[in-house]
Amino acid sequence: MRKTIIVGNWKMNGSVSELKTFIEELRGRLSDCVEAGLCVPYTLLATLKKESEGLDFLVGAQNMHFADAGAYTGEISAEMLSELGVGAVILGHSERRSYFAESDEIVNKKLLKAIEKGLLPIVCVGESLEEREEGRAEEVCKNQITKAFYRVNAKDAADVIIAYEPIWAIGTGKTASSQDAEDMAYSIRKQIEELYDEETSQKIRIQYGGSVKASNIADLMKMENVDGALVGGASLKAKDFAELINFAGGK
Ligand code: PGA
Repeated sequence: MRKTIIVGNWKMNGSVSELKTFIEELRGRLSDCVEAGLCVPYTLLATLKKESEGLDFLVGAQNMHFADAGAYTGEISAEMLSELGVGAVILGHSERRSYFAESDEIVNKKLLKAIEKGLLPIVCVGESLEEREEGRAEEVCKNQITKAFYRVNAKDAADVIIAYEPIWAIGTGKTASSQDAEDMAYSIRKQIEELYDEETSQKIRIQYGGSVKASNIADLMKMENVDGALVGGASLKAKDFAELINFAGGK
């Protein structure tokens, strides 16, 4: 049985005081049936860790470097995240792939490092509108997954979260239909079975991301292969996020 996992992605938003209020408002509103967490900018990680004490809540970053240390001005290592008590990290978000030239090879190096350092990796994959219209969505995601999981063993792969985020649905208000999300999640699970084995494919959790909100989460969570969501815009307000988590828990 895969536990539902809902993770918020604040992207480059939020201040210390906003985060404090957010956690205050979230307290007492989380559902036991759902693993929940939030990926915030680096500058808010220590605050999130402190404020969420006593809450069963994942503290996550949105990126990290693959090297242990060195001359990488402006970068943050997995070790630095662990030292702060960070538990999870988003890797290969489409915004990083497109604005910061993050390649599949880089995502793979980051994934291997996150696993080595004991962080829960959330690996994002997804196709553009053009790729979907050309009928290449599945092929694009498969290629991203094969490359991201290169040299990752089955035991570690089973604990990775894959977030399927069609680029055309991110921040646009256009959600993929629940059936589209299910079809891709099914295809991803099959691919994991081909790359590894059935046990790994049944264990791995697959999120959907792209304009997820309280009004569409319940339908998405009814889908057999969709195990959670990565939520951008609708994670910025505690009331909306708590509502969404609770609707997801109704699965
Ligand atoms: P959105 O973002 O929910 O605002 O579409 C999702 C994401 O980018 O992870």
